[in-house]
Amino acid sequence: MDFSTVLSSIDESALLHLAERMDREGYAVLEHVLSDDELQRARDYVAQQVAVHGHRYFSVHGVEALDDTLLGSFARLPLFHRLLSELYRQGLDHNPDPDERMFPVLRCLAGHNGRKQAHFYHFDATAVTALLPVVIPDDGPYRGDLFIFPNLRRFRRNVLINMLEKSLLQNTFSQRLIAHGIRRGLLRPITVRLVPGHLYLFWGYRSLHGNDECDPRLLRATALYHFGDVHRSSALARRVLGSNKREAKLDHDGLRPSTLRPETPYQAQEPPPLIRPEPLDSEPS
Ligand SMILES: [Fe+2]
Repeated sequence: MDFSTVLSSIDESALLHLAERMDREGYAVLEHVLSDDELQRARDYVAQQVAVHGHRYFSVHGVEALDDTLLGSFARLPLFHRLLSELYRQGLDHNPDPDERMFPVLRCLAGHNGRKQAHFYHFDATAVTALLPVVIPDDGPYRGDLFIFPNLRRFRRNVLINMLEKSLLQNTFSQRLIAHGIRRGLLRPITVRLVPGHLYLFWGYRSLHGNDECDPRLLRATALYHFGDVHRSSALARRVLGSNKREAKLDHDGLRPSTLRPETPYQAQEPPPLIRPEPLDSEPS
C-alpha cells in the first residue's frame, strides 16, 4: 500500500484509537505507511541532499523547499491534512484555523556535528507532530532513537505560560541535565526505535522530546510534519517563538515571504471530515 491508500483507510474509530494512544501511551504508530517505491524515492532524495550538503547535519525547512519532492508532496496531501486536523480537534476540542498548513522539515543527522543535535529536548510550537523515518541506522547503540517524555503539560491558552515552560525546560542547562539523567538511568523517557516507512504521531506541543545520539559514521534522516499552531493568533508568539521558521527565513505559515497566497482557501479540496464537527464553545484546556 502507498501513503494515500493507508491514509484513506483511517476511519473514525481508527482516528479515535490513534488519539487515545497518543494520550495514554505517549505516541501512536501507523506501520508501513510507505510503499517500497515511495520509501526508495524518499531515500533517493535524501541521498541527493547528502551529496549536496556532505556527511554532516543539515535540515530542509518548509513546503516550498521540499516542493518537488515526494516528502514535500505529503505536506499538501488532503488526506494527511485531514488526519492531523482531526487529531488536533481531538486534542484541543476545537477546529484548527482554516488556513493552518503543515510545516514539513527534513532533518539529517550525520558526522560529528550531527551528534551535537542529540538530546535537544524541546516542546514543539504545534499541537501534533508526525515523524516519518526515511533512513535509520540498522544496528549499534547509537541509532538516534526518539526519546519522549509524554504529555508533560496541557495545551496552554496563555502564551506566557507556554513561554515560561519552554524557558525552564528548553535551555542548554536543562537539556544537559536531562541527557545526564537518561544516561545514568535516573530519567526514563519512552524510547522509540524508529523504523523507516512507519509514521509516528505524538502531541509535540505537550511532550518534551529529542533524539539519542546517532553514530557519526552513519546517517539518520527523518521527515517531520508539524501541524496546528496552538498560539497562531498571538502576536507575541509570532515574534518570539518559531525559531525554526525564522532561521529558515520563512513566515509564520512556513512560507517564503514573497510567496503569493492562493486565492482559494487551502482546505477547499479537503475530503469530508471523519468526525462531524460540533458547535465550538470550548477553548483548549
Ligand atoms: Fe520537535
